[in-house]
Amino acid sequence: MAKLWGGRFQKSTDKRVDDFNSSIRFDKRMYRQDIKGSMAHAEMLGKQGIIPKDDADKIIKGLGEILADIEAGKIEFLIDAEDIHMNIEKLLTDRIGDAGKRLHTGRSRNDQVALDLRMYLLDEAKELRAMLLNLLDVIVNLADEHTETIMPGYTHLQKAQPITLAHHLMAYFEMLRRDLSRLGDWEKRCDYMPLGSGALAGTTYPLDREFVAEKLGFSNVTRNSLDGVSDRDFAIELSSVLSMIMMHLSRFSEELILWSSHEFSFIEMDDSYSTGSSIMPQKKNPDVAELIRGKTGRVYGHLMGLLTTMKGLPLAYNKDMQEDKEPIFDAVDTVKLCLPVFAEMLATMTVKKDNMLLGAKGGFTNATDAADYLVKKGMPFREAHEVVGKLVFYSISKDKSLDELTVAEFKEFSDIIEDDIYDAISMTTCVNDRKVIGGPAMDTVKTAIIEGKDFLSEQ
Ligand code: ARG
Repeated sequence: MAKLWGGRFQKSTDKRVDDFNSSIRFDKRMYRQDIKGSMAHAEMLGKQGIIPKDDADKIIKGLGEILADIEAGKIEFLIDAEDIHMNIEKLLTDRIGDAGKRLHTGRSRNDQVALDLRMYLLDEAKELRAMLLNLLDVIVNLADEHTETIMPGYTHLQKAQPITLAHHLMAYFEMLRRDLSRLGDWEKRCDYMPLGSGALAGTTYPLDREFVAEKLGFSNVTRNSLDGVSDRDFAIELSSVLSMIMMHLSRFSEELILWSSHEFSFIEMDDSYSTGSSIMPQKKNPDVAELIRGKTGRVYGHLMGLLTTMKGLPLAYNKDMQEDKEPIFDAVDTVKLCLPVFAEMLATMTVKKDNMLLGAKGGFTNATDAADYLVKKGMPFREAHEVVGKLVFYSISKDKSLDELTVAEFKEFSDIIEDDIYDAISMTTCVNDRKVIGGPAMDTVKTAIIEGKDFLSEQ
């Protein structure tokens, strides 16, 4: 097939080079953005009198028909036509002849691909945003059901102090809310329209860049033509936002995997969100959570891959940059795969409240509160810490929890302990006395949930 750029060549490209060079396999998914961008460019060329208005109309009509044909599955893209940009341009010229050949006036594939990728990622970001909001919604509603579900909080994966499941869930609400905000920040920096940068040095035609930007829904135009064609910060930055989302999902997945183990037994995954073993009949595995944890690795890998591809590239465009698409596409696809499945897994799991409470009661999670009890009765904290440490040691030897000790036993360690100790170290007191802003007290968490729901309804 004759190349659109074939003029200065005497020989045709080696078949192997055609295959090697071609990106249509993976960049065809940007067909909609490519066509939209070309329509806006053509309209602007016509408006500015750079090409005849008539030709601009023919181009826009032709592109509209090509779009419909692609969506109806009627088009087969050609490897020889290299990428989505030249495939569409070739389809157009085959259909409308000379007018089609005027489309590329004042434009280069270098600014075209920069535009298409930005538009594609901005479109995907809208879906990511909706998926994040849905997950936040699932989390806040689950938290609402569990404001009184007491569970152990951990540090070093050792039982630390009692909290509620709602409080634990709302920690993830905060992480994912930040992810949403990071995505919004990214959108602002991606919102620059690069057409007009040309191959690298702009163009001699009187393009109306602002008109094209407005047509395509951009708020700004890029400010330097070299940067306009060679900037891929937006792809790297988005993969960093995506990596952070995956890191959060992975931490959450890890907890769900632990919690569904026999040893914890805090939750049970729904049958529809777990799988069995081909050999061990008893097994019910949390594969979904494991896969999400696993897929985190590939998203991080794409971030590192993109950074490395861009490292050391001289200005302006280099073909290396064609390697930006597969990683960023896969990173987006992976997160879009994980978010809804994670949300549904969470919404369908069963919480074993009794086991959570039992878990909170074991492991002396109320030891700090016992020390605080002594402090409130006048003992200095360091001394109280020591007394309770000894109480814990004694209780372990008796295989008892603190609240199973008698007042007489308590008094062996400190005679200021009275029978109001039991209320002071009950799980409910331990949770509810932590009323500090951001703390786990049931009323405090209820307030956080209301604030979270308000936040979601404002989005
Ligand atoms: N397929 C190319 C890419 O993805 C488009 C730009 C090619 N430009 C060029 N001058 N070869 O980067």
